[in-house]
Amino acid sequence: MPLPCNLVVLLSGSGSNLQAMIDAFSHRDSPVCIRAVISNRADAFGLERARAAGIETRVLDHAGYDGREAFDQALMALIDGFEPTLVALAGFMRILTPGFVRHYHGRLLNIHPSLLPRHKGLHTHKRALEAGDTEHGCSVHFVTEELDGGPLVVQAAVAVQADDTPETLAGRVHAQEHQIYPLAVRWFAEGRLCLGSHGVSFDGQPLAASGHLIRP
Ligand code: GRF
Repeated sequence: MPLPCNLVVLLSGSGSNLQAMIDAFSHRDSPVCIRAVISNRADAFGLERARAAGIETRVLDHAGYDGREAFDQALMALIDGFEPTLVALAGFMRILTPGFVRHYHGRLLNIHPSLLPRHKGLHTHKRALEAGDTEHGCSVHFVTEELDGGPLVVQAAVAVQADDTPETLAGRVHAQEHQIYPLAVRWFAEGRLCLGSHGVSFDGQPLAASGHLIRP
């Protein structure tokens, strides 16, 4: 794969995962070039992080579009203008249409705050505590049409403490997200990671269905 890998990041909020990527890839000889950050919300703090790092930003407000299909078509056109090798969802709070997901098949990653397949969807930290989980964490996966169900790349686990609240647990999980998302992006950029017809391969070998697992 030609280096550097052009990365486009989509977000809707704080952008701490974007910041982790900026910190990981803003050096000479980086295998990754963050070409643009796109948000559906003009007030997303992640846009400020991008501007501070000299990265191009765009806002595409979904409210201006008549339905998901129309928005996703416009979003694809905007993304493709940056000729991405890889697109990373980093807290992009939109459900994507099947056409969008298919268009970026094998080059669209997401980070989710749970040890998938446990706790797909929202409020994962609260749900992990309510379920009495002793272990919680985060997952990077390729995006497919199944929400939070695409093939896993890497997961990081944290131990749940007896006195954890959703907030304290979220803090520790977030810290792990900032480790594994840049790691997965780096693997992709270096050509070590790919999604083929038989699933994810890593260094030319099939990767276990649970992806790489990092334990404390
Ligand atoms: C993270 O918890 C991520 O797992 C989820 O959205 C959140 C984004 O956080 N997909 P941030 O905007 O990167 O701080």
